Amino acid sequence: MKKLLILFSSTDGHTKIIAETIARHLSENYCADIVRIADSQTFPLDHYDLIIIGASIRYGKFKPELYSFIDQHMSLLDSKKSAFFGVNAVARKPAKNTPETNPYMQKFLKKTSWTPQTQGVFGGKIDYPKYQFIDKYMIRFIMWITNGPTDISQSFEFTNWNDVEAFARKLY
Ligand SMILES: Cc1cc2nc3c(=O)[nH]c(=O)nc-3n(C[C@H](O)[C@H](O)[C@H](O)COP(=O)(O)O)c2cc1C
Repeated sequence: MKKLLILFSSTDGHTKIIAETIARHLSENYCADIVRIADSQTFPLDHYDLIIIGASIRYGKFKPELYSFIDQHMSLLDSKKSAFFGVNAVARKPAKNTPETNPYMQKFLKKTSWTPQTQGVFGGKIDYPKYQFIDKYMIRFIMWITNGPTDISQSFEFTNWNDVEAFARKLY
């Protein structure tokens, strides 16, 4: 059995749920470990046959830990089979749900010199009841200006799970 490492950078946990789903789709061929990027410092990265990194957007940005990890491990990532997926609310829009059309993915690919062999972008989840006051009203404002749902008593999941499966299948 080959070994898969999925590293994730997340605030509210939805990126981890996507990572777990990818690992399930690959479970016939790969035995997976799923680890927060922040906890990966002492991990034996070299032991893995495939490394997938997943990260979510908050206030227009991926966390700095994503870029630090990539800078630090660029040659390892280039020497292995590797993939990247981004998670954000903008990807709920059909015109912005591919690596080529999603603005955050494009910004990411310009900012880092790593070119992941396989790339994906998935709609995230807006879970209004879970957020603290400022985040709740800030993301509601972002949703309002981008014609998204604004009912703060509800959660909205925008992930297309067929796209997640298709991304995983490319990595068999
Ligand atoms: C406070 C806040 C700010 C966000 N900012 C953005 C944003 O600027 N652009 C965007 O497309 N999505 C934005 N999102 C949506 C997140 O990317 C989405 O909720 C994602 O599922 C979060 O992943 P996580 O649960 O792994 O942290 C924001 C969400 C929150 C709660």
